[in-house]
This record gives sequence, C-alpha cells and structure tokens, in this order.
Amino acid sequence: MILGIESTAHTFGIAVVDNGKVLSNVRDMYTTEKGGIVPLDSAKHHKEVFSRVYKEALEKAGIANDENQIKAIAFSQGPGIPPCLLAGLHITKELSKRLNVPVIPINHCIAHLEIGALTGAKDPVLLYASGANTQIIAYAAGKYRVFGETLDLGVGNFIDTFARHAGIGFPGGPKIAALAEKASEEVKNNLIELPYSIKGMDVAFSGAQTKLKQLLDSKKYPLEDLSYSLQETIFAMLVEASERALAHTGKKELLIGGGVGCNKRLQEMCKIMCEERGCKFFSPEIQFLVDNAGMIAYLGEILFNKKLFVEVDNVSELDIRPRERTDDVEVSWKD
Ligand code: ATP
Ligand code: FE2
Repeated sequence: MILGIESTAHTFGIAVVDNGKVLSNVRDMYTTEKGGIVPLDSAKHHKEVFSRVYKEALEKAGIANDENQIKAIAFSQGPGIPPCLLAGLHITKELSKRLNVPVIPINHCIAHLEIGALTGAKDPVLLYASGANTQIIAYAAGKYRVFGETLDLGVGNFIDTFARHAGIGFPGGPKIAALAEKASEEVKNNLIELPYSIKGMDVAFSGAQTKLKQLLDSKKYPLEDLSYSLQETIFAMLVEASERALAHTGKKELLIGGGVGCNKRLQEMCKIMCEERGCKFFSPEIQFLVDNAGMIAYLGEILFNKKLFVEVDNVSELDIRPRERTDDVEVSWKD
C-alpha cells in the first residue's frame, strides 16, 4: 500500500491506495472567518491535525494495527505555499524514517490530472480550476504541457475575493453558486456586462474583478444577478479556452479538476461544449476534485511501480518545490 500526503495550501490530507484503489482519503481544511489563508497558520494547522488524520486514514484503510503494509510515502512536493509544503515535507521525512520506507515526490497539478483515470478518461485535456491555479493541461510529446493559463489570479481566488468583498465569507465558490441560482429572469436573458478577457488559450480575471467591485459598491444590482453574470462570463472564458485546447491537440476528452470544478454550472457548460464537438466530458467525484491526498497516493503508486522513488537513505536531502511548473516535470512513468 502507498500512503499519500497533501499539504500544498489550506487542506491537509492523508490517503492510502492499494492497486489503483483509494482505500481511504481523509481531509481536514484550515478555514478562516474572514480574510484569506495566513500561510504560517495553515502550516500550523497541518501539523496539529496530522496525528488524527493519519490515524483515521489507516483505520479506514483497515491497517490501523499494521503500519507495515505501507511500502512508500508519496507527498505533494509543489507547487504550493512554502510553509504548508514544508509541514508536509517534515511529516513525510519523519514517517519515512520511522517506517523505513522510500518517498515519492509528486507534482500536485499532475496528480489532479492523473486521478482522472478513475473516471475512465484515457488521454484528456484537463481544465484545472482551483483556488490558486487555473490551467489547461494536456500530455504531448513526453510532457504535461500547459496550453493555457490565467495571466493573473486563479479563478477560485477571484470568486473568493468577490465573495469576501460582498461579505459572505470563505470559501465563496459554493455561496456564489447558490446565489446565482436565484438570479432574476431579466439578467438571465441579458447578462450584466463584465470584461471577457481571453488571449489565445490564456485568460485573465483582474478586469472583471475591478468591474465587479465597482458594481457591488454602486449597489445598483442584487448580489444574485451579479453572481449569475460572474459565473456565466467567467466560466464561458474557461470553456472557450478548453475548446481551443481540444481543437489544437486533437484530443477527444475533457477532464475537470480543482475545487471550482465542483460547480454544477461549469460542469454543465463543459458538457454542452463537449457534446457539440463530439468529445467526452469527465468529472471526478468531489473528493478527488478538491485538494486531496488520494490523488497523491494514486499517482505515487504508479511511480513506485516504475521504481521512481527516493530511497530512505536519501530522503533527508529532499526539498519542497513551491514554484514547480507542470511542464518542468520529467514524465518518465508513461509508456
Ligand atoms: P490548488 O492548491 O490546487 O490551487 P486550492 O488550494 O485552491 O487548490 P481547491 O480545493 O482545489 O483548493 O479549490 C478551492 C476553491 O474551490 C475555492 O476557491 C472555492 O471557492 C472553490 N469552490 C469550491 N466549491 C465550489 C463550487 N461549487 N463552485 C465554485 N467554486 C467552488
Ligand atoms: Fe489542487
């Protein structure tokens, strides 16, 4: 069995995978009443919840009294927030020493893509829409390549910032989604206009952010109508960029990943686009869309089976990679 550890941002998670099956996938999320993530606090949270999350993950996998079933530890090496990544690295190093097992460093973004295999997707374009990240990734010529990405902030952070400004707390995504469902018929026929910014396969949100803030402050529109217009406009940008990536790569599958991928309307829009182009749309279970250790352990096992791990004697030299890019990763585990 392979143990996975996730700690890149606000979520701390531990999972156990055996033979491509996720036996347990336990998460604990650091939240704030107002404001965003305080990196040191989030890292502190990860250290505090570790013992409990570890115990629960082993119990759920049925190995509470049999730690020796763990043959290796996969951990999120990057990208992410440095103090959070360091918390995960320290935990990984200690566990590796104690259990005397090797370590498999994992790129978090690629794990979001590889876990898509559980949905049946074989060679998809990934629309990775999370808090900090917004990228369109696909495998081509030996690497995972970023075909398009945000030029400023991640789509989730953009939505969360708007929600915070509207005073409805964090995370804002699910709240904005609920508000959008209550939008007026009028706005559904005639959206409140927001900057639609897409260049090739890249997108940008800061124009829409400024405009939304102004509209909110003007108190001219109900929050429901603003939320609706936000979703329709911003998601259309993501879907358009994804469609271009499908056309460019000639791939026939679109996979969604990241917390914003939980949004039902975004999923619906992706599905419509895919149907229109004769492509298939895949969306993992919620537990694998948000940050989770299941995907880390899952990819970890694939690498482990290809002998791509760091022996326990060399584990002390491992470091975090806060800025690791998807296309920096040498993909030597694929045939
Ligand atoms: P990463 O480290 O991969 O960038 P992350 O730390 O931002 O990820 P995720 O769990 O992937 O974490 O995504 C969190 C984001 O998902 C938040 O911005 C949250 O508002 C958003 N979100 C969650 N559910 C929904 C939803 N139903 N609709 C829209 N956004 C959602
Ligand atoms: Fe993520």
